[in-house]
Amino acid sequence: MSHPASASRIASFGTTIFTEMSALAIQHNAVNLGQGFPDFAGPDFVKNAAIEAIQADYNQYAPMPGTLGLRQAVATMWRTRTGIDIDPLAEVSVASGATELLCDVMLSFINPGDAVVIFEPAYDAYVPDIIMAGGRVIPVRLHPPTATNPVWHYDPQVLAAACAQKPKLLLLNTPHNPTGKVFSLAELTEIADLCKTHDILAVVDEVYDRLVYDQHVHIHLASLPDMWQRTISLNSIGKTFSVTGWKIGWAIAPAALNSALRASHQWVTFATSTPMQYASAVALMQAESNGYYTQLVHEYSARRVILRDILSQTGLPLIDAAGSYFISIDVAPLGVSDVRVFCRRLVSEIGVAAIPITAFYVDPDAPQLARFCFAKKDETMRAAGERLRNLHTIAWR
Ligand SMILES: Cc1ncc(COP(=O)(O)O)c(C=O)c1O
Repeated sequence: MSHPASASRIASFGTTIFTEMSALAIQHNAVNLGQGFPDFAGPDFVKNAAIEAIQADYNQYAPMPGTLGLRQAVATMWRTRTGIDIDPLAEVSVASGATELLCDVMLSFINPGDAVVIFEPAYDAYVPDIIMAGGRVIPVRLHPPTATNPVWHYDPQVLAAACAQKPKLLLLNTPHNPTGKVFSLAELTEIADLCKTHDILAVVDEVYDRLVYDQHVHIHLASLPDMWQRTISLNSIGKTFSVTGWKIGWAIAPAALNSALRASHQWVTFATSTPMQYASAVALMQAESNGYYTQLVHEYSARRVILRDILSQTGLPLIDAAGSYFISIDVAPLGVSDVRVFCRRLVSEIGVAAIPITAFYVDPDAPQLARFCFAKKDETMRAAGERLRNLHTIAWR
């Protein structure tokens, strides 16, 4: 029996690499360091706030742009982070995670044929969102660290040439998934200057903004001179509070940009889970004063050391994270030419799941790196470490 044909806009969308690797991890009873979510519990003060919100019967539709309490909590946090006062009524919108907001942004600002500059490797939702809006992707490569340039970096001339093509929008992710890069003030200033020169709307995905290590600092692009009026800053509750299943995100931007964003949001999900918005407001307000953010970085720094030690023992070159929660290893010294094949074999023959970074590139001619996540319990990472001891017992070529 033939079925009605699906729309051409989804023709290039396969199964995500996360779905494939997580399914393989279950099939082979593997330790999953692939998909980027914590395997430990979120904090009690956040979980209890959700339980209390449900018990208090905050269970009907929320206002379309978000509950006032959460928008006020976001505005307070923004003032603490940037010194900028914003209007919670007009300049903050709540949606079902950064994922929904990324789609809303593209639907609200991209006309068919409009170009969008992204840095690749890029979080896997970016390209499909641009395609669904009828847009065109201009990828700008981030290159792995080298002996002379010890951080992930782009070629400024390539970025300038991309921006000179008059894209409508530039989508930036910092701290960055999958590389762990935290864009520096110099880089952000360069990006800001290009956005101003070529009249480009900047959208910044900042879901890892609380996870930065050592001397690195997260700088909000919107806080740079003359950037507020052309920037939409996206964030969400999932990574910061270890509750990725809640899917509560927010956009911070001037009223005109927010009102355009809401025009899509109101027809995509209309309103987002009410009790989880109440709990997210409590999370943001209490975390400012109860030391949660400091403790979070402290705990993640320790997890980062554990994973770094485990991966170092493989003897393969590794790229540490400045931010977010990912470390990569270069599998080329094993004689592997396709890291996707390596990751499939790693899960089935060694019992550890990782993600091939090639999946985050438009151009398949990409570095052969495997990404491991350290948002995991110590024992999870140590179990993976035990298995990775067998890495060199296998013929990889
Ligand atoms: C860079 C980046 N943006 C957005 C998201 C999704 O955020 P949310 O769970 O709030 O939809 C993720 C999740 O992995 C991510 O890594």
